[in-house]
Amino acid sequence: MPAALANINGQTMPLIDVKVSALDRGFLFGDGVYEVLRVYCGKPWMEPEHFDRLIRSLALIRIGGVDVDRLRRRMHKTIAAGGFGDCVVYMQVTRGAVYPRRHAFPADAAPTELLWVEDYDDTKTAQQRQVGVSVISQPDLRWQRCGIKSTNLLANVLANQAAAEAGAAEAILYLPDGTLTEASHSSFFWVTHGNLCTTPHDANILPGITRIEVLRLTERAGVTVRECFLKRDDVAAVAEFFLTGTTSEVLPVTRIDGRPVANGHPGPVTRKLQAAHAEAVAEFLR
Ligand code: PDD
Repeated sequence: MPAALANINGQTMPLIDVKVSALDRGFLFGDGVYEVLRVYCGKPWMEPEHFDRLIRSLALIRIGGVDVDRLRRRMHKTIAAGGFGDCVVYMQVTRGAVYPRRHAFPADAAPTELLWVEDYDDTKTAQQRQVGVSVISQPDLRWQRCGIKSTNLLANVLANQAAAEAGAAEAILYLPDGTLTEASHSSFFWVTHGNLCTTPHDANILPGITRIEVLRLTERAGVTVRECFLKRDDVAAVAEFFLTGTTSEVLPVTRIDGRPVANGHPGPVTRKLQAAHAEAVAEFLR
């Protein structure tokens, strides 16, 4: 596998050589935002949507002075320089490094703009897409600004670790009233009474790019979709459940908290949308 290649503030270098100041506010405060893009055969997938979300995240936390088009050009340059094909781009912008450490925004910080490209081996996830995965439910301990793709991910990390320790692939998150929001690093959909449903885009969920794509694919697949809420107590009655995310794509869930979803196998709507996604990617690459 070729080594991951990075671009830090315009300089290209191997990822392992990148050094960021200990005073960087991303490191000290989690004062930054990020994006993860999937690249198929050297072509970034859903690129405009990812950059639009980055622009929104930057505006929402009031990081100014970032030339996002330049960042986009750096991304393409790095993909080409490393000769990458199927890979993933991680991109992060923080408010920069300033001394002394103060919570309020510094007047003179220059944002730190980091991205790297690494090969992506889809083998394990491809197998999971065939057979499905288990998830567990965990309390949603995050804040009320989940629409911001913030690098503050401690609550997500703890939920995902609980899933890993339970032998599950993901953690789906619930609010104190039992309403499920999204998963630690994925969006989700479910099928109930013949309807495909997903949680409405509100302050408690990240507007997932794959979620947007799946909403578009429903038309093509002839599936109707509704935005509504699912309670943790009602999960046992769903007919299908699947996760969506940049690298997971459309990932069937066959067990929730140890109980099978319906007959414990990926359902027909999930399969239809997996096929529609594969077709959309193939079209994109033609
Ligand atoms: N996670 N919800 C959360 C909380 C996420 O962190 C992510 C993505 C998603 C799915 O979004 P998208 O379809 O745009 O990937 C939903 C990224 C991939 C990560 O943190 O690595």
